[in-house]
Amino acid sequence: VVRQVLLKDKNAPPEVWSWFPVLGNTIWYGMDPFDFFFTCKEKYGDVFTFILLGRRVTVCLGTKGNEFILNGKLKDVNAEEIYTGLTTPVFGEGVVYDCPNSKLMEQKKFVKFGLTMEAFQSYVDLISSETRSFVEKGKVFQAHSGKIDIVPTMAELTIYTASRSLQGPEVRAKFDSTFADLYHDLDMGFSPINFMLSWAPLPHNRKRDIAQKKMTDTYMEIIKQRRDAGGKREKGDEDMIWNLMGCTYKDGTPVPDREVAHMMIALLMAGQHSSSSTSSWILLRLATRPDIQEDLLEEQKRVLGEDLPPLTYENLQKLTLNAQVVKETLRLHAPIHSILRKVKSPMTIVANTPTTTKTYQIPTTHTLLSAPGVTSRESEFFPDPMTWEPHRWDEGHPLAYTRMGMDKEEFEDYGYGMISKGASSPYLPFGAGRHRCIGEQFAYVQLGAVLATIVRLVKLRQIEGKELVPTDYSSLFSRPMAPAVVEFEKREKA
Ligand code: HEM
Repeated sequence: VVRQVLLKDKNAPPEVWSWFPVLGNTIWYGMDPFDFFFTCKEKYGDVFTFILLGRRVTVCLGTKGNEFILNGKLKDVNAEEIYTGLTTPVFGEGVVYDCPNSKLMEQKKFVKFGLTMEAFQSYVDLISSETRSFVEKGKVFQAHSGKIDIVPTMAELTIYTASRSLQGPEVRAKFDSTFADLYHDLDMGFSPINFMLSWAPLPHNRKRDIAQKKMTDTYMEIIKQRRDAGGKREKGDEDMIWNLMGCTYKDGTPVPDREVAHMMIALLMAGQHSSSSTSSWILLRLATRPDIQEDLLEEQKRVLGEDLPPLTYENLQKLTLNAQVVKETLRLHAPIHSILRKVKSPMTIVANTPTTTKTYQIPTTHTLLSAPGVTSRESEFFPDPMTWEPHRWDEGHPLAYTRMGMDKEEFEDYGYGMISKGASSPYLPFGAGRHRCIGEQFAYVQLGAVLATIVRLVKLRQIEGKELVPTDYSSLFSRPMAPAVVEFEKREKA
C-alpha cells in the first residue's frame, strides 16, 4: 500500500478511500452498486478508481464514460481476458470469450442472421402458447386466485419459452426431464465466487464440469440425429441449432458441431438470467400498478380487436405500451449493472469532477467498469428518474425523457429508439459497441409475448402492506430479492 501511495501517478483518477487494502470497497459495491456509484460520483465526479477484490477498477460514468469504455478500441480495451475464466468452463471451448475477438464477431453474426423475421414469427406463437399452457395447466396458477413467488415462477417460464423457440423442440422436451438439473449444475459456474475461483476443484465446479460435458453431448446428439435424418431443414424449422448447423466461417470452415453445442449453451445461459430477471421485475412492477395492467389489456383490445385474437409477431409490434413496459423496466432494472474491460494500453479521459474538468491517465494495471444504469437513473435525462412510469415514453408525457433540444428523429438516432444504436445514449441496457447484446430483439419478442399473454389471463396485486422488494445484487445478474410474492386472480374470460 505504501509503495502504491508513493508511486501513485498524479494523473491517475482519484481513488475511493478504504481501510482494507485488498477488500477495498468490494462489500459496499457488491451490496448496492448504485448507492456506491452515486455516492462516489458526488464526491469525485464521473471517473474514480476503487479496489475490488485486490484489483484496481476505474469506473467511468456519464454518457462520455459509457462511450469511452463500450466503444473503446480493440487495442485499448479487452473483454475476453476478464470474462473467460468464468464463462469458458460454463459455455465450453472455442466460443464467445474463448477465442479471438474476430471469431466472436463472426459467431455473433451467425446468431444475428438466424434471428430472421420468419424465426420471430414462429417464436411469438410458440412463446405465447407455452405461456398460456403454463398459466392454465401448470402447477403455479392452479387455483382461481392466490399467491405466487415471482422469481422462481419466471425462471421456469423463461426457460420453457426460450427452449421452445430459440433452442428448438428437442431441447424443450428435455427440460421436462434431464435438462433442468443439468442446467442448474451448470449455472453454479456463475456463482460470484467463481470470478476468483472458477479453476478451483470445489464441489460446485466439479458438478459444473460434469454438467457442461453432458449438455454438450446432448446438443451434439441432437445435431447428429438431425443430420442422420437427412439434415434437411423444413419450413417452420426456425430454431438456432438449424441455423448454426448451416454456418461457415470466413475461412471456409463449417462451424464444428461441438462449437454449435457450445454456442447454444452460451445463448441459453446468457438469455436465461437476463430475461427471467427482467420479466420478474415487469410482473412485480405491474402488481404495484393495476392501472397499467388495465391500460395494457385496453391497448390489445383497441389495436387487435375486442375478441383478442392470437398474438402474432406483426400485431406484437403494434402494442406500443406493451413494449414501453419492457423498456421502462429495463431502465431501472437492467440485469447487468457493470460491464468490465481490461485496459490494454494507457488511456486518457477528460472527466467532469464536482467542480471542474480534469484529464486522467488510466494505466494498464486497471480494469475499466461501465455502468450505463447510472445515466438511465439521472434526472438530467429522465425526470423523476426513480419512478417506474411506462407512459413516460409517450409523446408529450410530463415525465417524458428530456429531449436535449433535438427533434424526434435526431433523438431516436441518438439512441433512444427501441433499439438504441450509439454508445452515447444514456439508455443502454443492452450495452453498446462490439460486445453489444445480440439477444435484444429476441428478448423483446420473448418478454413482449409473455407480458401480452399474462395480461390477458391474470391480474396481479401487491400484497397489502408489502413494499416492492429490493434488488439482489449478490449474483452475476441482478434480480429481485427472493421471496418476491404477489397476489394473482385469473380473469373471467381470456
Ligand atoms: C451481451 C444485456 C438478453 C446474448 C450483452 C451485454 C449486455 C446484455 C449489457 C453486453 C455485455 C458486455 O459488453 O460485456 C442483456 C439484457 C437482456 C439480454 C438486458 C434481456 C433483457 C440476451 C439474450 C441472449 C443474449 C436473450 C441470447 C439469445 C448475449 C450475447 C452477448 C450479450 C451472446 C455478447 C457478448 C459479447 O459480445 O461480448 N447482453 N442481454 N442476451 N448478450 Fe445479452
